[in-house]
Amino acid sequence: MLDGMGSLRRTHMCGDVTATLEGQEVVLAGWVHRRRDHGGVIFVDLRDRSGDLVQVVFKPEVAAEAHEKAGSLRGEWVILARGTVERRSDDTINRKMKTGEVEVNVVELRLLNTATPPPFLIEEESGVDEAVRLTHRIHDLRRPPLQRSLRVRHELYQSARRTLTEQGFLEIDTPMLARATPEGARDFLVPSRMQPGQFYALPQSPQILKQLLMVAGFDRYFQIARCFRDEDQRADRQLEFSQIDLEMSFVGVEDVLDILENVTVRCTRDAIGAELERPFKRITYAEAMARYGIDRPDTRILLELTELTDVFAGSGFKAFRGAVDAGGIVKCLHIADADGLSRSEIDRLESFVKKELGGKGLAWIRVKEGDEWQSPIVKFLSDEEKKQISERTGAKPGSLIFFQADEFERANMILARLRVDLGRKLGRVDDRAWDPLLVVDFPLFEREETGGLTHMHMPFVAPLEEDIPLLENEPEKVRGSHYDVVVNGVELGSGSLRNHRTDIQRRVLEIMGYSPEEQDHAFGFMLRSLETGAPPHGGFAFGVERWIMVLIGSENMRDVVAFPKTQRGQDLLMEAPSSVTPEQLDELSIRVRAPRKQDREKQD
Ligand code: AMO
Ligand code: AMP
Repeated sequence: MLDGMGSLRRTHMCGDVTATLEGQEVVLAGWVHRRRDHGGVIFVDLRDRSGDLVQVVFKPEVAAEAHEKAGSLRGEWVILARGTVERRSDDTINRKMKTGEVEVNVVELRLLNTATPPPFLIEEESGVDEAVRLTHRIHDLRRPPLQRSLRVRHELYQSARRTLTEQGFLEIDTPMLARATPEGARDFLVPSRMQPGQFYALPQSPQILKQLLMVAGFDRYFQIARCFRDEDQRADRQLEFSQIDLEMSFVGVEDVLDILENVTVRCTRDAIGAELERPFKRITYAEAMARYGIDRPDTRILLELTELTDVFAGSGFKAFRGAVDAGGIVKCLHIADADGLSRSEIDRLESFVKKELGGKGLAWIRVKEGDEWQSPIVKFLSDEEKKQISERTGAKPGSLIFFQADEFERANMILARLRVDLGRKLGRVDDRAWDPLLVVDFPLFEREETGGLTHMHMPFVAPLEEDIPLLENEPEKVRGSHYDVVVNGVELGSGSLRNHRTDIQRRVLEIMGYSPEEQDHAFGFMLRSLETGAPPHGGFAFGVERWIMVLIGSENMRDVVAFPKTQRGQDLLMEAPSSVTPEQLDELSIRVRAPRKQDREKQD
């Protein structure tokens, strides 16, 4: 009962069929979105990649055979239809559809394939559980939002290729089968058959190799690079993802930032037609943390944080004093005219902070008329402390102030979260659609829990030139030449100038606790390559998925990836990962033992 295409070929996409084609014959190909029988006349909404629908009509008096066949059509069957574009009568025009003024009066129908019944409707909102969508990803991918997001992805790639090519960058591939290097995340390992017992690592990023391309004299490199990181999954992370990765020689920070602004603006324009204003705002890491409690602020939210650590250094209020004594901080979030927040909402926030964010509490002060302070902590505060809080925040009647006394990271994380949630809730938001930002001057090192220093981003970041003398005795104060591009509170990507001098690279590794022998073992090929004549160089990597999420306003990374993995690292469509045959394992000299109880628990 199935037909071949014969010599019939598509002439138009469904979305092209508008009134301008009236009277013309067209051939359309696609999927049956919906079929309706209306007393002899059969209507089919036909759908193709354009995501648009067009109504094709089968009338027994026009084409008896086509009409007869159309009677058997079901959802998602694949057809080819030839017919004439006709204007609909005024009362049947559908203004909501791009093609709603016309329909196609079919004279020939070819049934190219049948289909199993779809598990859910192919519509804008599927309304079903994500696991169902991922298991039936083919149907899911037919939905307009996914068709759109993958198109944006394509446009972004093409624009990046054009923009970077124009600026003299060469597109060069680097291997997927690479060597394990200590870059930060856990590696995915690939066993070698030819070298039994040895493993390749899939790249976490092409970082080292792109630096070596600079040493090799390519001057400007880019790649749309696949990256693999065996990390716990979150809404903004996938096990494998793509970077628009670039590296340049003989540049300083400003040269790289100029290229980054250019690429961000042009790609955003080409992908979705939006205009970002140049120059981007600049902010240092220190200022971002102080004012917003986060290194990727959305500065459209107008609330800011205030530092109070010094005020409570000798305080009688134990909860705050204790945090300062333990090396932590005291900070607050001031909200003017906050009468709209009720006492019960404050209590709810306090339990949210404790239960969900791991906070110790949420102290607050409400300033009433006549400067009366209502608060569970006011009885613990000295007059001087009250004066400082008042002056630094600019509190006045109607103000509400939330406090955190905790470790630097947690206190900032909690206040940053409250700032965004309450800013949105109370409408303290600037209505600009786009908020592009360059965050600069990150510290080079951060403290590990064990007390030692480690790199804040990765081991190859160069210190700012003026901070190089501090490497000797005050490494903690050294700022790195690291920069991030942040748009609407999302880190699109990051980069830095790199150490091209081996002496500085070795000193940085030494501060991180690597002995000279350990440096050679872990980074030998890298260090030896730098010694062959490395030019000053630096670069950047945009996270493609994060960028598209910002462009289409999605909170779910899986909506911008054709075949994504779940939280538990599974592909539900192809059922990966899977077991392999004993022969395959044997060839690789690998024996698998049963997972231990604690391994299973770790995964839950
Ligand atoms: P970094 O590790 O900051 O830098 O990565 C750059 C960008 O990649 C994206 N990204 C991710 N996207 C999805 N899932 C993940 N698991 C994930 N991890 C990172 C983010 C991030 O900003 N080699 C350096 C870049 C450089 O210095 O040139 C690097 O990889 O958007
Ligand atoms: P307590 O004296 O523990 O009852 O705390 C008084 C108020 O301070 C309560 O509202 C607590 O939620 C709050 N609080 C206690 N510890 C902290 C802290 N480390 N940071 C912020 N608020 C706190």
